[in-house]
Amino acid sequence: MAKSREKIVFVCQECGASRPRWHGQCPACGAWNTMVETVIKPEPRVRRRAGAPRNVPQRLPAISADGLERLPLPMPEFSRVLGGGIVPGSLVLVGGDPGIGKSTLLLQVAALVSETSGDVLYVSGEESVQQIKMRADRLGITTDHLLLLTETNLETIISHIEQLRPCMAVIDSIQTVYLEDLTSAAGSVSQVRESAARLMHVAKGQGLPIFLVGHVTKAGAIAGPRVLEHIVDTVLYLEGDRFHAYRLLRSVKNRFGATAEVGVFEMGNEGLTEVANPSEAFLAERLPQAAGSAIAVTMEGTRPLLLEIQALASTTSFGLPRRTANGIDFNRLLLLVAVLARRVGLRLSDQDVFVNVIGGLRVSEPAADLAVATAIASSFRNAPVAADMALVGEVGLSGELRSVSQLDRRLNEAAKLGFRRCLVPKSWRRGVTANANIEVLTARSLAEALDLALIR
Ligand code: TYD
Ligand code: MG
Repeated sequence: MAKSREKIVFVCQECGASRPRWHGQCPACGAWNTMVETVIKPEPRVRRRAGAPRNVPQRLPAISADGLERLPLPMPEFSRVLGGGIVPGSLVLVGGDPGIGKSTLLLQVAALVSETSGDVLYVSGEESVQQIKMRADRLGITTDHLLLLTETNLETIISHIEQLRPCMAVIDSIQTVYLEDLTSAAGSVSQVRESAARLMHVAKGQGLPIFLVGHVTKAGAIAGPRVLEHIVDTVLYLEGDRFHAYRLLRSVKNRFGATAEVGVFEMGNEGLTEVANPSEAFLAERLPQAAGSAIAVTMEGTRPLLLEIQALASTTSFGLPRRTANGIDFNRLLLLVAVLARRVGLRLSDQDVFVNVIGGLRVSEPAADLAVATAIASSFRNAPVAADMALVGEVGLSGELRSVSQLDRRLNEAAKLGFRRCLVPKSWRRGVTANANIEVLTARSLAEALDLALIR
């Protein structure tokens, strides 16, 4: 009889909406071809265990925050992204493209925490313990307190956690674990959601920090993205170009710290190493007097980053000029080319224009507009940008320069790296924290800025 109580629904793998009938397009989020047939058994939900403590309302002064002391993590770049260490009982999702270095990063973090704080359990559903051991050898990890487990059954994993009582656990990856109660395949939205909810329960119940690895789908979101992002406390993305060594760890949600914080790492033979001074690293290979190169000062979270932007304008050999953007938004490039053509009078209509951000990074901030436009003009006129100059500013459609946030911090970073001049929008007012070692040039429009920046 039990079987007849099973229900069949169709669950959207994007947003988790369920419908009694199949739809080609999810009625809730509009995604196509994402509805998957799912059998729902009665009572699959996690129930409160007998004897588990019930919560009662407490008065604010009576609550102590002592239990929330963060575990120290001797990896400052990672620690800062988390908001200053690992919060006990937190569930942290680390997402990223396959092969970007998620397993490597978390194995290194697990080893560091195990050296300072005690046993750490690293559960892999993707690699055998021998494979992980080989990687650990390569990374030079020798700690006694790191326990490896290959397992995909979540109930078994949780019983190991309850027995071992580690001070941190890593689940690599959330898409490979499954709950037997659910009939859908591992990696489906219902499995991912229920597994994460179960792990949240364990994390909060034991005060145990748990890191989940999540794969990114083709569309660029973690499978079952919205459901997972809502459940976990913190969402970090490891990004970067596979062909470049630099990796950015970005926090997009954090219940225990600021979001938009960024950690910079470099992938090498000994795994990921921290890059303490990224601006310096990104500028290392610059040719100072080359035409078509400009330095932008962008902000990643609270952190200023100096980046080299390169452009090449060359006469097209086809009827239709090409525009290629690498590291900046393509539409932003089209806009800047149009502004350069109409407001500055550059004849770009028969030019192929290529723009590249050095280091495989992506810039989404409009504050880099001025540097991008200047690099294009510099290449087109074959006139280099002054080598000691950095550029900051948003370019508007009338060719005007618009002010950007946190200019003082950007100026300080540029000064720190030895830039003696910075070109900024006219509306800027020097704040009290600005560095006096850098000369600030101002321009009202893009045309004015090019006159100041390019050497003829
Ligand atoms: P991995 O951590 O397995 O990626 P993910 O878990 O995100 O899928 O990283 C695999 C890549 O990292 C692989 O291309 C090899 C490279 N790598 C190094 O370059 N150096 C190293 O020391 C390690 C361990 C990996
Ligand atoms: Mg992996």
